[in-house]
Amino acid sequence: MMFLKNRNKIAIIGFVAVLTGLGSCRDAVKFPGYEYFPEMYRGPAYETYAPSTIFADSLSSLKPVAGSVSRGFMPFNYSADNAGYEKASLEAFNPLRNDSINLGEGKRLYEIYCVNCHGAEGMGDGNLVADNKFPGVPPSYSTGTSSRGGTMKDLTDGKIYHTITHGINLMGAHSGQLNPQQRWQITMYVRDLQKIGQATAAPAADSTAAAIK
Ligand code: HEC
Repeated sequence: MMFLKNRNKIAIIGFVAVLTGLGSCRDAVKFPGYEYFPEMYRGPAYETYAPSTIFADSLSSLKPVAGSVSRGFMPFNYSADNAGYEKASLEAFNPLRNDSINLGEGKRLYEIYCVNCHGAEGMGDGNLVADNKFPGVPPSYSTGTSSRGGTMKDLTDGKIYHTITHGINLMGAHSGQLNPQQRWQITMYVRDLQKIGQATAAPAADSTAAAIK
């Protein structure tokens, strides 16, 4: 009897196994299979800022608080006009360390973006100017005078950065081509070009200016 019972059991198990096997014999490409607990596969994940009822403003994520900036981003909230230029002069200072890496990168970028008008030493004699391809003549960084008043050699970090960012008269804005870090690196290099030929410059500064020529 025991033997028969076991045989029945084996037969039933075998029958179920065959049925299950047949059940899964479908065209695997077209049939993705049965889903048990579909919630496990299809979690209630939301797209960022998708419509939703979670928050009062009916978006799936909260919007950043007004005035938020992304990590590492340096805001420069100065208007393009003279008032913004003067304000930047008082408040905006180069946040980068004055080292050979930043200065070297500033020189490299200057020689791509500025040299054609301003010249290698910032004398306002770039090839576009020398060949009369450009209607304006930029004033020399070391001996010229700014159209906005004062001497070029006294231009502050903020004024130079403001000029690169917003442009001035015939010089276009460079905020589209150069990110904030690159603009500060160029500013650092221009500060060195201002010292060229300055009798009043400290000896240490003089040697830096000579080294980067
Ligand atoms: C297409 C030619 C041109 C290019 C390129 C150019 N500049 Fe100028 N830049 C000028 C001219 C012209 C002026 C004088 C504008 C004026 O005051 O009317 C000037 C003025 C300046 C001034 C003086 C601003 C002031 O307050 O008087 C600075 C600083 C300056 N440029 C820096 C740069 C730097 C740095 C770059 C490269 C990122 C650059 N410029 C690229 C033509 C150019």
